[in-house]
Amino acid sequence: MSAPVRPAAVPAPAAAGEPRPDVAELYRRHLGSGRAVMGTVLGGMAEVGSGGPWVHTDDGRRFLDFGGYGVFLLGHRHPAVVAAVHRQIDTHPLATRVFLEPVAAHAAEALAAHTPPGLDHIHFVNSGAEATETALKLARAGGHDAIVTTRGGFHGKTFGALSVTANPKYQETFRPLLPGVTEVTHGDAAELAAVLARLGERACFVLEPVQGEGGVRIPPPGYLAEVAALCRHHGAFLIVDEIQTGMGRLGSWWGVDAEQVAPDALLIGKGLSGGVVPVAAVAATKEAYAPFSRDPYLHTSTFGASPIACAAALATVRTMVREETVARAAALGERLLAGVRQVCAPHLGTLVREVRGKGLLIGIEFHREQAVGELVLEMVGRDVLVNHSLNSTTVLRLTPPAVVDDAAVELFLTTFADALRVTAARLPG
Ligand SMILES: Cc1ncc(COP(=O)(O)O)c(C=O)c1O
Repeated sequence: MSAPVRPAAVPAPAAAGEPRPDVAELYRRHLGSGRAVMGTVLGGMAEVGSGGPWVHTDDGRRFLDFGGYGVFLLGHRHPAVVAAVHRQIDTHPLATRVFLEPVAAHAAEALAAHTPPGLDHIHFVNSGAEATETALKLARAGGHDAIVTTRGGFHGKTFGALSVTANPKYQETFRPLLPGVTEVTHGDAAELAAVLARLGERACFVLEPVQGEGGVRIPPPGYLAEVAALCRHHGAFLIVDEIQTGMGRLGSWWGVDAEQVAPDALLIGKGLSGGVVPVAAVAATKEAYAPFSRDPYLHTSTFGASPIACAAALATVRTMVREETVARAAALGERLLAGVRQVCAPHLGTLVREVRGKGLLIGIEFHREQAVGELVLEMVGRDVLVNHSLNSTTVLRLTPPAVVDDAAVELFLTTFADALRVTAARLPG
């Protein structure tokens, strides 16, 4: 008889700020020395637990998570999602892929009930980048092989996705990428019009309604509708990447809702996980999806649409409806943006260049890159988590959960005001 499996030991608490050489050393040896150094600079703690907007570290501290790179709109370990996933683990976590599987079917139905009109076909995948790959392949299958993306756009880092993630910092090492990718400026419909006039039906435009990693760039009103009209006029395929902006993050189910745009394919990720199990998806029109409908083996992945991931997705959608998460994100976002603007006001023009946001996606742009790193550290030192932006080094990003209470918002704002004051004194404008 084999020995019973014992749970992994949680590292013993250590004094605050003291590095835990065990985890950091294992990182250095096996996961990469750069990541080990980053973890040590941030205090050396290891995260070992979470719940709601809180993350717990092995030194006994509790952090308010206003970062999470856009994943935790429902907070960490939402009880309804955890319960659904537990049930699935106890019954049938992974499928044989021989028979039909009901959880995937119900999750697709639930998600399609909230996608823009006509986007009824759902392909589940395991990550955002995979969703981008899937949509690019759908576009290709339909004859759209001339890809257009936006400067500063972020769509993931697998090969196809990286080809449209327009940041040389991540692309250079891996060239050649997909050929024939054209970059246009996010928010500039005239530039897109000129490119589409040249490429015609071969074009496939990949767009975030608000650039997230690009530094919370919000296009001018009317841009999304104009993009959709241009794509329709030229017969171009439109992929809208809502991996960060969708699932209620902007205070609406999708960023495109504001201008009633229905693309050919919509990319969904991050929040779909319910903060519990990684899962992403592509929602597509019947026509765009036809190649996958015809041949179910054309684009497959062993773990794609697993019952456990789909149980999380299904519970997430149901929870969002029951708890009115989208409306909560809109209301909370408005209050938080006003609060952040107020806190930043004394530093505008010196340390802070601009505060912008929509729903619970808020960006604070600084005059100097250094301010972002300093503030991340200052906030971690005060037990609050915030994020930098991968494609915009001067922008600090907030993507808090919609489940925070007034006390947590207040705690965030006073902590941020304090951290800004210290940073402004250290980096005079
Ligand atoms: C808009 C957008 N698209 C795609 C991705 C890639 O998702 P993933 O990291 O799950 O591959 C991200 C991740 O930040 C994103 O923000």
